[in-house]
Amino acid sequence: MTNATMSKQAKVTVVVDSRYGSTLALAQAIASGARRQGADVRLCRVDIAEPEFSVDTNRADFIAAQREYADLPRASAADLEWADGIIWGSPTRYGLMSTPLRAFIDEVAPLWRAGALIGKVGAVFTSTGGMHSGNEMTLMSLMLPFLQHGMILCGVPHSEPALIKTQKGGSPYGASVVTGFDGRRGVDDNELAIGAALGARVARLSAQVEAEPASVDIAAAAAC
Ligand SMILES: Cc1cc2nc3c(=O)[nH]c(=O)nc-3n(C[C@H](O)[C@H](O)[C@H](O)COP(=O)(O)O)c2cc1C
Repeated sequence: MTNATMSKQAKVTVVVDSRYGSTLALAQAIASGARRQGADVRLCRVDIAEPEFSVDTNRADFIAAQREYADLPRASAADLEWADGIIWGSPTRYGLMSTPLRAFIDEVAPLWRAGALIGKVGAVFTSTGGMHSGNEMTLMSLMLPFLQHGMILCGVPHSEPALIKTQKGGSPYGASVVTGFDGRRGVDDNELAIGAALGARVARLSAQVEAEPASVDIAAAAAC
């Protein structure tokens, strides 16, 4: 009997922001890994509200990725409430998560007040141009809102062989890609394997935990 058949079917929401498609490719690998583990998966995007002036909209990978990205459903607070496990990721921007993903996280702030995500499982992913220019720091920045929401963080253990083999992205802190500053290093098999392993692990863990719904307002009132 597999873990998936022993416990409830996990519901996993993957929220992605991407321009040139590498973070999107990683999100798809994560979603596939979770599905292979038996989870019901929603793969959603965030809104790209404004053009970013340093994004080259003439690049072929931008044009191809944006067609695919636009076809994804737009993430909502309901997608996070529905899920037992939430995995979100964005390209690195100045060593941090992107503004569109951050805007989405701000948008779902009422979930924090309601304590709606307490006890759910969270995990993160990113893509950077450079090898040592914010890859792991972006993963850390993506984790902080999960801790504020009272969630349980999930990373990638070194029992995943691709984590030992990788020559660029992927870390114990989450899944990641290093594309090179012109994007030409792309996404490789180790990075995708680490993404799939993360998705599968979130599916396994979130099938075993129960959310702990609790009102932050009631706790605040009790503290006075
Ligand atoms: C405004 C801006 C800021 C960026 N900041 C960083 C950075 O701090 N470190 C880095 O390695 N790459 C940085 N990049 C490059 C992107 O993170 C990189 O191109 C990423 O692979 C794109 O992911 P995507 O293919 O999903 O769009 C930046 C790109 C832009 C447009």
